Amino acid sequence: MNMQIWKNPEEIADKLNRLWEMPARRLKPAAIEGYMRYFEEHCQKSKILASEACKYIPGAVQHNLSLNYPFPVCMAKAEGAYMWDVDGNRYTDFLQAGGPTMIGSNDPYVREKVIEVMNNCGAVTGLFSEYELKLAKLINRHMPHVEMFRMLASGTEANMAAIRLARAFTGCTKIIKICAAYHGWSDQLEYDITIAGSHSENASGIPKEVYMHTQAVPVNDLDAMREQLEKNRKDGGTACVIVEPFGPESGARPVYFDYNRKLRELCNEFGALLIFDEVVTGFRVGLGGAAAFFGVTPDITVFGKALTGGYPASGGVGGRREIMQYFSPPEGARYPRVHVGGTLSANPLSCVGGYYTLLETEKRQACEKAAAAGDKLCKGIQKIFDRYELPFVVYNQLSIIHIDVVGRLNLTITDENREEVKKKLLERNRLLNEFGMALFVEGIVTLVGRRMYTSLADTDDIIDDVFIRLDRLFKNYC
Ligand SMILES: Cc1ncc(COP(=O)(O)O)c(C=O)c1O
Repeated sequence: MNMQIWKNPEEIADKLNRLWEMPARRLKPAAIEGYMRYFEEHCQKSKILASEACKYIPGAVQHNLSLNYPFPVCMAKAEGAYMWDVDGNRYTDFLQAGGPTMIGSNDPYVREKVIEVMNNCGAVTGLFSEYELKLAKLINRHMPHVEMFRMLASGTEANMAAIRLARAFTGCTKIIKICAAYHGWSDQLEYDITIAGSHSENASGIPKEVYMHTQAVPVNDLDAMREQLEKNRKDGGTACVIVEPFGPESGARPVYFDYNRKLRELCNEFGALLIFDEVVTGFRVGLGGAAAFFGVTPDITVFGKALTGGYPASGGVGGRREIMQYFSPPEGARYPRVHVGGTLSANPLSCVGGYYTLLETEKRQACEKAAAAGDKLCKGIQKIFDRYELPFVVYNQLSIIHIDVVGRLNLTITDENREEVKKKLLERNRLLNEFGMALFVEGIVTLVGRRMYTSLADTDDIIDDVFIRLDRLFKNYC
């Protein structure tokens, strides 16, 4: 069943590459003028706050999940499928905080449970709480391969911990990631992110010695993976292969359906651990995550986002007992402890938020309903592209929808094209900003104009209404 719904990565790559190669399609100047006017007329409070924020906050915002042109819109309220800004404008929320809120934003039932705990002990005690155990047991019920679970404060931290664990367990140093994959912003993983072949372009401030053991291999290229593993075998071995199991950049470059299974086999052959970074996919593509979706068992799983339903702080590592015990070796163990921690990790607020959100996700079949909403949204957007003969690309993996109006999602930088790509990207990113602005004016919030997350809250009526607004927007393209 899952194999049948999985889209062909080659078809998607072809469409994206064609979009990059062809002349850019842009919004009509008159439409852009109208959008700018809208911001002036309807978002004055946001404008004032944003201009003051420039003085105190680099770039005026602490998050980089939104397009902030002409200025960041300041949000005041969120509920279900909607957000409202400080000027009272309402937006349909396909950002969903970057993915965590499967049952919709600010769910009242979960909120009550969180408030109950807050009233009793506040957000943090620094000691063991009942909900730590409840959450770990619940994860184990949905993902039996997560025999033990260590909670941390973010996906970035959890990936750092997973790598440290893999190195301690295998005694090897080298790690292999996939080109363009994002595993957070830690020193050793900020390598070849977002755009394949970008190598250390995003690694300013990081000594190269720190990421010299991080190797990046192109997605879906099993020969290249084997070659790298073979090379490493002659040079100390590979600690782990770490992947976003739907594909780099939250699946923007989708894998072949059997890719993860083949990686599993390669890891077994070469004695490397397989790490699934399920920060995006975990509890979103199903309660069993990508592991259940593909029927592939990783050695270590990394969690974030949906783990706590959007409550801070959200991160964790899980896996087989014999590996996980390195975090707290039993008496007499012949290996040293792998130290991880965090003052606010596994606080009662995160644990209770996560526990009840995951229970509700199961009870209300949120993953399935969000996936159906994702299918509907994707099909409807494609129809609009067809109606106006726009070459833009949209595809979804369940509740994760990728959209591209400039052709950058499948880019690969090489030594030959580096300067040309960078120049073209500057121009295309300007167009992406304009697209983001138009989306805002039409009352639609996305993840930087490139991704949309659906949730349980996205009913048919809500999505039909979005189609009317998207139709109005795409009609404005030349
Ligand atoms: C696949 C993946 N891993 C790790 C991270 C980092 O998680 P966090 O932002 O919680 O540090 C992200 C964040 O978007 C992600 O998408």
